[in-house]
Amino acid sequence: MPILLSQVNANTRIKFWEDIYLYAVNNLPDNVDPRALTAKGRKPLENLTERIAYIAAYGAHHYYKLNTAFEKANLEKLHNQEIEICDWGCGQAVATCILIDFLLNKGIHPVIHQITLVEPSQNALNGGLTFLQKMLNGNNEIVSYVHLICNRMNDVSSSLLRTSEDALKVHLLSNILDVSSVNLSMLHGLLTETYTGVNKFICTGPGNIGREKIDQFRELFTSQYTLEEDFFTDQSITGRYWRLNKSKTAPFGEYSITRYERQFTVTLRKEES
Ligand SMILES: C[S@@+](CC[C@H](N)C(=O)[O-])C[C@H]1O[C@@H](n2cnc3c(N)ncnc32)[C@H](O)[C@@H]1O
Repeated sequence: MPILLSQVNANTRIKFWEDIYLYAVNNLPDNVDPRALTAKGRKPLENLTERIAYIAAYGAHHYYKLNTAFEKANLEKLHNQEIEICDWGCGQAVATCILIDFLLNKGIHPVIHQITLVEPSQNALNGGLTFLQKMLNGNNEIVSYVHLICNRMNDVSSSLLRTSEDALKVHLLSNILDVSSVNLSMLHGLLTETYTGVNKFICTGPGNIGREKIDQFRELFTSQYTLEEDFFTDQSITGRYWRLNKSKTAPFGEYSITRYERQFTVTLRKEES
């Protein structure tokens, strides 16, 4: 049986905001500046303190940015659909967790055949798998549907990936395309070689850096394919969260969150050999 969201028990599963984000805020050790400790979210996370620090510092930004993106993504059509989720540079699978919360909150129940997590930090990857198990506790066999790839994207080859042409692929690229080590043409080559069929890309990033890499990533598909559900925004949003730093002087409140977002859907053809 694949992962059926309709069978997840809402009373016993964990939720991103309450159980992952607020847990991290409450358990951040004193005198730790979470942004500095995680090199502003850029470094592979090496231990539990760094994992907690990352979520305490950035979890709320991702939560608001991704929920706003998912509202624009026509996800209702995933109801009863066979899908795969691919979370690239996933860290602790925060984007997948937020997507699962979103779908369950909206009563959208796709049939999830696979979740692929790609991330160079084994520590972060293990944390992500644990979160997903607890989020989807209606299905004890979830581990067999989560495909963990502990690698940088540039070092992932098509033979390492598993996919089905019939499933709709939802690719999450949350705060990853702007990372300097990510080679866009290699990623594009990997995707077009591997993921025949319908692919939905949801790309979010910070408002200030790496915008052009999100544009370039989309551009790479346009020479060969017609894009559908092609959406763009760079409008800031606001959200209420804990703004943490070493001295914790700017506590809970409403703050602006800058963002850069592109989403598009593309039907990839089998490559001719
Ligand atoms: C800003 S974090 C984003 C993490 C996650 N997508 C999220 O939304 O929380 C960047 C992540 O990219 C990973 N990373 C860095 N270089 C990478 C690469 N070349 N390929 C894949 N992941 C990479 C880091 O380990 C880190 O987890």
